[in-house]
Amino acid sequence: MNDTQIESGFRIRPCLPTDLEAAYDVCLKTGDSGADGTHLYQDDPAALGNLYVGPYIVLEPDLAFVLEDGAGVCGYVLAALDSARFYERLQAEWLPSLCARHPDPEGDPATWTPSQRLYHEYHHYQVYYPPSFRAYPSHLHIDLAPRAQGRGQGMRMMHHQLETLERRGSAGVHLCMSALNHRAYRFYRKLDFDELARIGAAGDEVIYLGRRMDRR
Ligand SMILES: CC(C)(COP(=O)(O)OP(=O)(O)OC[C@H]1O[C@@H](n2cnc3c(N)ncnc32)[C@H](O)[C@@H]1OP(=O)(O)O)[C@@H](O)C(=O)NCCC(=O)NCCS
Repeated sequence: MNDTQIESGFRIRPCLPTDLEAAYDVCLKTGDSGADGTHLYQDDPAALGNLYVGPYIVLEPDLAFVLEDGAGVCGYVLAALDSARFYERLQAEWLPSLCARHPDPEGDPATWTPSQRLYHEYHHYQVYYPPSFRAYPSHLHIDLAPRAQGRGQGMRMMHHQLETLERRGSAGVHLCMSALNHRAYRFYRKLDFDELARIGAAGDEVIYLGRRMDRR
């Protein structure tokens, strides 16, 4: 598949720095376990994108792709080739300026807004990347705006990214998703992702899935 293939009015193309704002918007509109998260982040609509979109577009531009239709950007698939290296760079090159702009919240965590909980994460960044995940050294994020969902575009985006990662020498890829996002779970299972781990309490549980490139 090439970068500019057009199908059903949708086009996959490399993400440009000028797509940042539109990509943050897709992140927000899918930021509540796949549903619209606008109501959760009214105090800072960029809080999620600052962690899950911005650093990928800036630090891994060759693995950042957007989906576009006549109305503009309506999805993205973003990846890091070498997760260990990416997390090091995130800590050194991305988080310091975010932390400078958003102080670590104080007081009772139960009173924090979702944005403030993310600020806490910026300041106390912790990533789950155990030795057993090393067979899946890359990781990715995909989100499509509602108008692009359920039309086969997610599959196209994933195949595009999996092929790109494989060409770049990746042995495997993992991802993290909310256990509440049943649609995403079915989607990844159709793509032959296997469950690697489940962590967190019920209601807040996340699932890690992985897929080796040699399975395709
Ligand atoms: C999860 C997500 C990436 C899945 O992408 P998607 O393209 O919507 O994939 P879905 O499996 O939901 O939709 C595919 C369905 O589209 C329909 N469809 C319509 N035209 C199609 C076509 N040309 N080709 C394939 N499927 C088509 C089919 O019903 C298909 O279902 P089936 O595979 O059971 O037949 C996307 O829904 C999304 O971004 N959701 C919100 C954000 C999110 O949850 N992100 C993941 C966070 S971990």
